[in-house]
Amino acid sequence: METLKRTRIAEILQSKDFGTTVQVKGWVRTRRGNKQVGFIALNDGSTIRNVQIVVPVDAFGEDSLKPVTTGACIRVNGILTESPGQGQDAEIHAQEIHVYGTADPLTYPLQKKGHSLEFLRDIAHLRPRTNTFGAIFRIRHHMAIAIHRFFHERGFYYFHTPVLTASDCEGAGQMFQVTTLNLYDLKKDANGSIDYTNDFFGKQASLTVSGQLEGELAAMALGAIYTFGPTFRAENSNTPRHLAEFWMIEPEVAFNEIEDNMQLAEDFIKYCVRWALDNCREDVEFLNNMFDKELIERLNFVLKQNFIRLTYTEGIRILEAAIAKGHTFEYPIYWGADLASEHERYLVEDHFRCPVILTDYPKEIKSFYMKQNDDGKTVRAMDVLFPKIGEIIGGSQREEDYDKLSQRAQEMDVPTKDIWWYLDTRRFGTAPHSGFGLGFERLLMFVTGMTNIRDVIPFPRTPHNAEF
Ligand code: 4AD
Ligand code: MG
Repeated sequence: METLKRTRIAEILQSKDFGTTVQVKGWVRTRRGNKQVGFIALNDGSTIRNVQIVVPVDAFGEDSLKPVTTGACIRVNGILTESPGQGQDAEIHAQEIHVYGTADPLTYPLQKKGHSLEFLRDIAHLRPRTNTFGAIFRIRHHMAIAIHRFFHERGFYYFHTPVLTASDCEGAGQMFQVTTLNLYDLKKDANGSIDYTNDFFGKQASLTVSGQLEGELAAMALGAIYTFGPTFRAENSNTPRHLAEFWMIEPEVAFNEIEDNMQLAEDFIKYCVRWALDNCREDVEFLNNMFDKELIERLNFVLKQNFIRLTYTEGIRILEAAIAKGHTFEYPIYWGADLASEHERYLVEDHFRCPVILTDYPKEIKSFYMKQNDDGKTVRAMDVLFPKIGEIIGGSQREEDYDKLSQRAQEMDVPTKDIWWYLDTRRFGTAPHSGFGLGFERLLMFVTGMTNIRDVIPFPRTPHNAEF
């Protein structure tokens, strides 16, 4: 006899081969019923929907069904049958049930419905088994595919930049140090400095905060590249928008000016949002209905809008006018100040009601590598600000002039001897170029409607939290 092959539940629910024998494997969401007939809702992760398993209780014997409780993993052979219930798909009339693994109802944490997102964070090892996190992690996968497709279709090359690095791209001093030195027996020199010559790399090393500097090297050869990898920042900010480990996508394009960079960013985000609506419909609808009734509306809205383009200076004027009219902000705002999330969201959600690309920031609050404007005060930075999120993208045109770049690095205390290789691109065949970084989890927050970034990454790393 030919052995029966397992079919994924996503396919079972589409199938019209009623009367055939099928096999499914998955985790029990619920079991209910009476003495005659039982109903098992089974999920295997291939879709948010469960398949209903109809069990003739007498034929099986009540005892043999006892281990089939919420959370148990089972295999079912049965007849694919058209479901009589209205709006329901195919169901399976069980002939044989095998229990792979039980889940004791007294200790399995995912018993009743409606656990809080906070509670589920504490059981991040099990939360993928909930409808909510199944949906989120399927969307996360599809967004990664969308990103690769977007760039591949446009002739960008996926370029891998190192995770271990000896340079601080953003110069913000938020790096996680990496060492093989024995911390219990650290040797210091006469000045109290640590001697790194005996460390693994012979110098101080860290986890990367950005692949941009290496990405620029590649753009100066391959023309257009993007990176997509894990990024680490030891910023001690316990906010719903920051992670210590997050994923960033960083395109870098030779010959692009800031206007091209803005257009690329806008096209890129819209492509991803459209992809979610087209390819993750059921999951997005579920999140819309469960958590955020305006989610789909917001996604469609962003697709229709041309993002507002505005200089930092104009943005400050609008914020000052808001204060003059009685609006209050927690943090002070004046020309030269960095925008807090509340300021960004005021511009996007209250003033323009539309995504905003803010450009030409004061050079003091931006990184050394940004192209300096002729006014001597501002740089060609661009931040894309989104409703509910604030900053989703940060980028700029890059300073391509060797003298200006190295001078700005010195002014900002960036150790130029560590980035001689970066400065070299400006010595040999330099060219105008631009790029940006999209926070993958910020994009996912927007697409899923989740309001805490810890809920769009499987195992979040935040201050004092590295469980799982
Ligand atoms: O604005 P950032 O710091 O820009 C850079 O790192 C540049 N090197 C990018 C480039 O031009 N190639 O970070 C880029 C984006 C932010 O807009 C935000 O979406 C995300 O990365 N991001 C974070 N996401 C989660 N947790 C954090 N701690 C983040 N820090 C930045
Ligand atoms: Mg930024």
